[in-house]
Amino acid sequence: MMITGSKRSSRLPGSEIRSLLRHAGSRDIISLAGGHPRDELLPLQHLQEAVGRALTRFGRRSLQYGRTEGEAELRDWVCGYYQDRGIRVTPEQVLITSGSQQGLDLLARGLFDPGDPVYMNDPGYIGAIQAFQAAELVCQPWNFTSTPGSAPGNLYIVPNFANPTGESLPREVRRALLQSSHWIIADDPYGQISFCGPTSPWLPDIPIEDGPLILLGSGSKWLCPGLRIGWIVAPTALIELLGRLKQAADLQTSTLSQFTFLELAGLLPPEGARDLLVPVYRQQRDAMVTALKRYWDDDGAFRTPQGGFFLWLTLPEGWSAGDFAARALERGVAVVPGTAFALDRSRPGHPGTIRLSYSKETPEMIDRAIARLAEIL
Ligand SMILES: Cc1ncc(COP(=O)(O)O)c(C=O)c1O
Repeated sequence: MMITGSKRSSRLPGSEIRSLLRHAGSRDIISLAGGHPRDELLPLQHLQEAVGRALTRFGRRSLQYGRTEGEAELRDWVCGYYQDRGIRVTPEQVLITSGSQQGLDLLARGLFDPGDPVYMNDPGYIGAIQAFQAAELVCQPWNFTSTPGSAPGNLYIVPNFANPTGESLPREVRRALLQSSHWIIADDPYGQISFCGPTSPWLPDIPIEDGPLILLGSGSKWLCPGLRIGWIVAPTALIELLGRLKQAADLQTSTLSQFTFLELAGLLPPEGARDLLVPVYRQQRDAMVTALKRYWDDDGAFRTPQGGFFLWLTLPEGWSAGDFAARALERGVAVVPGTAFALDRSRPGHPGTIRLSYSKETPEMIDRAIARLAEIL
């Protein structure tokens, strides 16, 4: 049988990162490619305890079907998370999702119609581009520096330490955008990994019930991605609508994962986890910056990231990102070419840039990787 799939699915490009990560998993490769937390920081022992606590506290409820919107206790926890950041959220405004990636998929299909534009940074988060394109939306470039404070249409933004550039959206632009009549989807998985003090998912004291702001949250980067816990915060009516779409997609997020996450977040609350993670990621960021200064010999090629997992590097004149990434792989280093983050894959932008992730490897390995990259030039 000839397998072609639907027109929609066959038009959808795969993620270059996922293909790269196949190589990156090999033991001989130093991976500066994925947005993975450092393995040693994944809280194995706390997780063992959290599963036990979840099973003791919730018993067979942990193993049963649950509510599509998410378990009440976890929705309450999400409200507390935002309350600690000065944002009032009610449980009815929360939908628990299977990672914030599912939030992007539900919003793409639940808020917009095929052909609708969504404005976002170019280069942009590849998973958002995929979710939007799967829903047949048109990703349009939006750069806050060229249109300060005004939204040309519905926006998708990573407000803190964006993937892939590491940049954050200034407070005054956040404030100005709230006057907009268009939706703003603010996706904030990296806010906890800050080298410059506490961040806000948007701004304190913002109203949720009347829009235009929709918040996406995730435990993937500061607890662990394997539990697949994320959430959407949005006006109640929208949560109800998205809940129906989620029902069709997966009925609910795993009950056991939700309760385990709840217990794990009790053992390692965001602030505590941040205290453990930030010094480690800061050291890794410093190792990358120091190595680039030592071997790369072009300070203007990057900005030092103030948080998150990524550094965006401009290659010397004349280098193609694809060729460079292929040569890097031959030398045992996985990096992602900037073209992978272009909104329009038919005319790939950012050909002279690469994304380097400092999240996964030790400072020593990062130093070795940058030295190898510099030898290519
Ligand atoms: C900007 C951004 N949003 C969302 C996600 C998806 O996160 P999750 O694991 O919660 O689905 C990622 C993962 O890398 C990301 O970088």
